[in-house]
Amino acid sequence: MPSPDLAAFIRALPKAELHLHLEGSVTPVMARRLARRHGLSLPGIDLDDDSADVRQAFPFVDFAGFLRLYLAIASCLHTAEDFADIVEDLAERLVAQGVGYAEVTFTPGLHHHRKIDNQPMLEGLAQGRRRALERHDVMLRWVFDIVRIFPDQATPTLDFARAMQAHDSGSVVGLGLAGPEDRPHEVAPLRDAFAQARAEGLHALPHAGELAGPERIWEAVRDLGAVRIGHGVRCLEDPALVEHLRTEGIALEVCPSSNVCLSVVPSLAEHPLPRLLDAGLSLSLGSDDPPLFETDLVTEYERVADAFGWGPQRLRSLAAASIDQSFMPAERAAAMHRALAAVADPVVG
Ligand code: ADE
Ligand code: ZN
Repeated sequence: MPSPDLAAFIRALPKAELHLHLEGSVTPVMARRLARRHGLSLPGIDLDDDSADVRQAFPFVDFAGFLRLYLAIASCLHTAEDFADIVEDLAERLVAQGVGYAEVTFTPGLHHHRKIDNQPMLEGLAQGRRRALERHDVMLRWVFDIVRIFPDQATPTLDFARAMQAHDSGSVVGLGLAGPEDRPHEVAPLRDAFAQARAEGLHALPHAGELAGPERIWEAVRDLGAVRIGHGVRCLEDPALVEHLRTEGIALEVCPSSNVCLSVVPSLAEHPLPRLLDAGLSLSLGSDDPPLFETDLVTEYERVADAFGWGPQRLRSLAAASIDQSFMPAERAAAMHRALAAVADPVVG
């Protein structure tokens, strides 16, 4: 672990979090609270033992198990209050980590599938976003994502984004794409939805090149018009792709602990993060589904500092990159850059 001075420095750095799922940020404590609120039991989650640690409460061994757990957590969300509560709970944790802005992914199709209407989701997310800004001074904006294996979600997800823009103007930054990546050409049916979204001012922000190789990243860029890639760590397998991402300024959202937990890489020490930076790629660090991967954004900075021996200068530039690669309003970006410049380097030795 880094020295206390370096840890305090990391926490103090004003940061943007660009790869974070709302449903995947529900803590075991919150899952229990919601389940009790609705008299539910959650398959695979121990609701009786408040002292159980995160791994006991949220167990999984592979991507399929991870998705099952994800669905179980989502199944405790019903009312606008539930959605608002998980947003505010997340905002409290973000602000305690020096995060002043986050682009948060939410999956409307997951809840449509559970027969939840748009109204509680629209109201709850908007209310949570308001509370985040007013009570905690953290600005949240939404990425609404489609699950790859359910292309039928494309139109309802885009409609949800439009409804949210009407309900809470300017709160949506993009259309996302997540889930298993193992089928070729699966983005073809999604091309029109992403083109529509882009025509309406939303950015294409898909996951790609996490669970499969460079071809998925090429599809995301060419077919969907991706301007940032969720993960994308496997781009290094294709030098022409690296060159394309670099010259087009398409940044990666790199989530090291997620990659280790989902066996995308064997260990943090072997994570390609240093090689991605050496290749000249733009990237920010993200926590993806923090309680599920026993992490948060500060922990990601700490872990990479430790694994790669990185000091204040490299960490400061990662924080600056997160601000620059976000879609936050220019005034907030300027204020965060000013605050970043005012953070003193830690005392060494
Ligand atoms: N949904 C939530 N987290 C994800 C991940 N890391 N990869 C793909 N889909 C996801
Ligand atoms: Zn993700």
